[in-house]
Amino acid sequence: MRDDVPSRTAAWVAACRSYGAALPDQARLIEDPYGAAFAGLGGGGVTPPAAMVRWLTPFRRWVMYMQVRTRVLDDAMLAFVARGGTQIVVLGAGYDCRALRFAESLRGARVFEVDHPATQGHKQRVLARTGVTSPATYVTWDFEARPMAELPTALAAAGLDLAKPTFTIWEGVTMYLSDAAIDASVRAIKAWSPPGSELAFTYVTRASIDHPALVTRALGAMLRTAGEPWRFGWDPAALGGWLGDRGLALADDASIAEHAQRLLPAAWARGVGERGRRIALARAGGVGESIAVART
Ligand SMILES: C[S@@+](CC[C@H](N)C(=O)[O-])C[C@H]1O[C@@H](n2cnc3c(N)ncnc32)[C@H](O)[C@@H]1O
Repeated sequence: MRDDVPSRTAAWVAACRSYGAALPDQARLIEDPYGAAFAGLGGGGVTPPAAMVRWLTPFRRWVMYMQVRTRVLDDAMLAFVARGGTQIVVLGAGYDCRALRFAESLRGARVFEVDHPATQGHKQRVLARTGVTSPATYVTWDFEARPMAELPTALAAAGLDLAKPTFTIWEGVTMYLSDAAIDASVRAIKAWSPPGSELAFTYVTRASIDHPALVTRALGAMLRTAGEPWRFGWDPAALGGWLGDRGLALADDASIAEHAQRLLPAAWARGVGERGRRIALARAGGVGESIAVART
């Protein structure tokens, strides 16, 4: 991303999350009244372009995609907290407002949001302008420019207890990073993840970067213009071994489309999420339960 510009992709996905409010009940999986404000839309509340969401198919697909992606990670985080987990790290948090959306469920937990200074600064300004105080603890970090090996110490200085299980969320970030930053990030995550800790992340397949479908090529052109091109993907067949080499055990890995089929009525699940976009769940150490998403 550009050094001095808050992430535009973060604003886009946050707005799409808010626009879920315009969906009919059977298609709504999450509530996020905060997201639209970060894109400069709708002040502190939401002014969803209901007609756009209902009738403009490509736009609706984005909104649905965000419903599914965010819901899967919400569920995994809440399951961790229900088992007694008290620490959440949101890596590349952008305009993620879980600390606000789940203020009640997370009352006994601490949320640490780590992001690029440009994006995090914009987030804090927007929240201040709209009179919202987030209970999250902010840590600024550029994953490409600052050594990731130093981030565990910085998080500890901010109050993260490195001896306690931590749930790390890495939503919509891995595709924007270099190979070196990905490797260093996972090693850093492992360093703040004692047994019982979990990592939930989204990723795109290597194939969808190397051989993009038409819709992904169009998206790629927009992302390059925004200064946030996709750079990194994993081969799903190799992901378990890759994580294992770094001390994490893959617990679940499924495409957004598969999650959509599980979570939504068939008519709504159709067309949600390219098969090349996936959500993976991994755990650290031998202690703690699996966070694998229950399949029905
Ligand atoms: C698509 S946004 C996702 C934001 C959020 N996780 C969500 O799902 O709403 C990508 C995020 O990665 C962050 N990011 C990208 N490159 C980064 C870097 N080099 N250092 C720190 N953060 C970075 C951006 O600031 C942005 O918040």
